[in-house]
Amino acid sequence: MNPKSPTKTELPLYKASPALEAIDIAQQAQNDQRVYIETYGCQMNVSDSELMSGILTRNGYEMVDRVDDANVVLLNTCAIRENAEEKVLNRLVHLHHRKRRQSDLVLGVCGCMAQHMKTKLIDAAPYVDFVLGPDAYRNLPMAISSVTTGDPFLGLKLDRGEDYADIAPIRKEGIRAWLTIQRGCDKMCTFCIVPFVRGRERSIPMHLLVDDVKRLADEGFKEVVLLGQTVNSYDDGTHNFGDLLFGMSEVEGIDRIRFTSPHPSDATDALIEAMASCDKVCNQIHLPLQSGSTRVLETMRRTYTAEAYRELVAKMRAHIPDLSISTDVIVGFCGETEQDFMETYDLMAEIRYDSAFMFKYSSRDGTLAHKTLDDDVSEEEKGRRLKEIIALQENISHEINQELIGETVEVLVEGESRRDPDNFQGKTDGFKTAVFPKESSEIGDLVGVKVESVTAHTLIGSMVAAPE
Ligand code: 5AD
Repeated sequence: MNPKSPTKTELPLYKASPALEAIDIAQQAQNDQRVYIETYGCQMNVSDSELMSGILTRNGYEMVDRVDDANVVLLNTCAIRENAEEKVLNRLVHLHHRKRRQSDLVLGVCGCMAQHMKTKLIDAAPYVDFVLGPDAYRNLPMAISSVTTGDPFLGLKLDRGEDYADIAPIRKEGIRAWLTIQRGCDKMCTFCIVPFVRGRERSIPMHLLVDDVKRLADEGFKEVVLLGQTVNSYDDGTHNFGDLLFGMSEVEGIDRIRFTSPHPSDATDALIEAMASCDKVCNQIHLPLQSGSTRVLETMRRTYTAEAYRELVAKMRAHIPDLSISTDVIVGFCGETEQDFMETYDLMAEIRYDSAFMFKYSSRDGTLAHKTLDDDVSEEEKGRRLKEIIALQENISHEINQELIGETVEVLVEGESRRDPDNFQGKTDGFKTAVFPKESSEIGDLVGVKVESVTAHTLIGSMVAAPE
């Protein structure tokens, strides 16, 4: 295990109810406690759930894969949009019924929504036994064991010294491992709740991360995805993100390295150089645009213009062959006019992303936009704009995939196709899903797949010799 980095000096940004706040003791599991974690939201949450499993396992808890086998249920939640929180509130109603039937059932709400709603979550769901934010997972054993004392336990301190660098996450078997290299966010986009629920940015020292990647290779993982809210602003005081990519590329046994999500303003030449010259770093980037209107980007405080973004994409494409680009776009942000929206539409049409995640703006309590701007685009209009860019993107994705018909792509075999057990599925270097008959290939192999047909989201083909 890694030694904990000695950075716990800052004061917490929030203070939870003092009587109930946790102290840092490891509490061993009692009475055969079996824990099920249900994960909502982004990959960072998936990675945090693995961290939670690590903390609980080392304290003697058993982790189970089915809610029916559990007597402790933890929801690891998301707060990014209102519907993410609604989903969890509905799930809690369901689990309340279960709690009535299963009297020893412990129910904890963890993660971003816990941090966002704080005690309001207890008001909405008083049967919840504890609420723990993203920097309070060390308190999980104590939160579970203190349930018998009656009062719900609150762990809501944000702690900019907490990086969990000494905790070994428990990962599901597979070929792809998620590795958190940075926690928190310093960017302060006006629409975004993340800095308020995950606190300030902090990076884990590079030597610890390189050791982690070596360990992942020893455990049989073939691909590592580096995670951070603005992953390319990584800075451990000595090394930047480019250094990290170069360092990780040296690790034997790992075939592919990806990262998500970078911020366009931190896409330095060092990053481009690392992507261009490290074979293992995939030629793929998820580069959130948010809006194609410079005026809207300004009100979002994205710190770049549409023109700067366009130039960045051109530069990356010039240096990184066959670069696959995906993005995030928000429609209907405060004050977004039809003209602003058309600028987004046109920029998406011009850049031709391989794929995109597209969202209606959802006002989040606590953000600057919520406090100072009018959420003035109607729900109906947001819906129309969303539909338009989804249709545009579906066409583009399909057309880009069609151009691959007849080509051979390199695929890292991940597992059986969900639809057909005779087929394997895996990802290309550009993170496209490919499906093909298994033949003699095995999970973890890098194989060549000749593309025969496509949809907007999948390449379908058969195995041939891998491309040079
Ligand atoms: N409303 C809608 N979408 C949002 N995102 C972040 N905050 C909001 C919000 N308030 C989107 C952004 C971000 C992605 C993870 O979620 O596009 O990149």
